[in-house]
Amino acid sequence: DIRQQFIDFFETKSHEFIRSSAVVPHDDPTLLFTNAGMNQFKPYFIGLQEPPTKRVVNSQKCIRVSGKHNDLEEVGVDDYHHTFFEMLGNWSFGDFYKKEAISWAWELLTEVWKLDKKRLWVTIYHEDDESGELWKEHSDIDPQRILKFGAKDNFWEMGETGPCGPCTEIHYYTGENIDDQSAEGVNLLAEYREIWNLVFIQYNRNKNGELNPLPKKHVDTGAGFERLVAILNGKSSNYETDLFIPILDEIVKITGKEILFEGGVPHRVIADHLRMLSFSIADGAMPGNEGRGYVLRRVLRRAARFGRKLEMKEPFLYKLVSILCQVMGEAFPEILDKKSHIEKVIEAEEKSFNDTLDRGLEMFDRVLNKIPKNGTIPGEDAFKLYDTY
Ligand code: SER
Repeated sequence: DIRQQFIDFFETKSHEFIRSSAVVPHDDPTLLFTNAGMNQFKPYFIGLQEPPTKRVVNSQKCIRVSGKHNDLEEVGVDDYHHTFFEMLGNWSFGDFYKKEAISWAWELLTEVWKLDKKRLWVTIYHEDDESGELWKEHSDIDPQRILKFGAKDNFWEMGETGPCGPCTEIHYYTGENIDDQSAEGVNLLAEYREIWNLVFIQYNRNKNGELNPLPKKHVDTGAGFERLVAILNGKSSNYETDLFIPILDEIVKITGKEILFEGGVPHRVIADHLRMLSFSIADGAMPGNEGRGYVLRRVLRRAARFGRKLEMKEPFLYKLVSILCQVMGEAFPEILDKKSHIEKVIEAEEKSFNDTLDRGLEMFDRVLNKIPKNGTIPGEDAFKLYDTY
């Protein structure tokens, strides 16, 4: 419903809904995976193609486990980073600009979804005073809640090269103590969660790192769907929403380990990685030894390794594809179409990794037996264990 409400809202602002592009970008050598909603529109931004329409809205499947945007180490440990997530977005290709982007975002968050204004914060790029003024004129945010940050937080780029520009981000305080908020927490503490990024695309960064102004100015917004769902349900964790609960429950059922086993990290990592693997395999990626395939292999192995913490020695990740299809299949029918292919690929890869891991564990025992108590594992053995097993 939340996904649909976002789309409906922007349709009332003359945006056209378009489908998510694949998570595997087939014609952009600068990316291994689609890492933002704007990727498929890059040719429009840099003026290589004419957009068929000037305003669009969608929910884009994104993967952030490699390259400039890589959230892997946060996944499962915190409540709101994922290898795979949906980004709700709306775009202007040389049409409306900052004023509309800002006022519509505010309208949707505070009038349609009725988020508490006393929990919202806004950041702007330190050189972009215009956005600060627009926030004051076109929203009723308390001006003290508009904060300036540098390029690290408020200048968005999709990769080393490509379209980019200053951005203004909306953050939501998820903490318990509403009177205890402070500007210091924004972009620092987990309770202050970025929920929506409005990027004002006006440059293209070239291979030499130079910023070239684009012929037209564009808007690229991205709102973390799972984070919004959590917030709108009054939850501080994305895993406590109906995007994840059915998958976590199924993991409990299959493994027999209760949900908070080891702080809940293994269940969360497995649920997250299942989504990344299933969607990338559905879109044509395969585990392998290099490039994109190697990222899949590493993610699958990471999930399987957390499976071992739940004492799962036999393949089991593939058994979770069914429940994922129930949760996501309506919005993304491609995983229904490819269900049995996804299951087969995951099962075969799990099986071969389990064999490798067993051999690795035997080797690890042999290495340990060779060295004195409190000794050091030789670098050569450590490397072999890490690299091969
Ligand atoms: N491209 C921006 C982002 O990924 C906004 O969509 O955050």
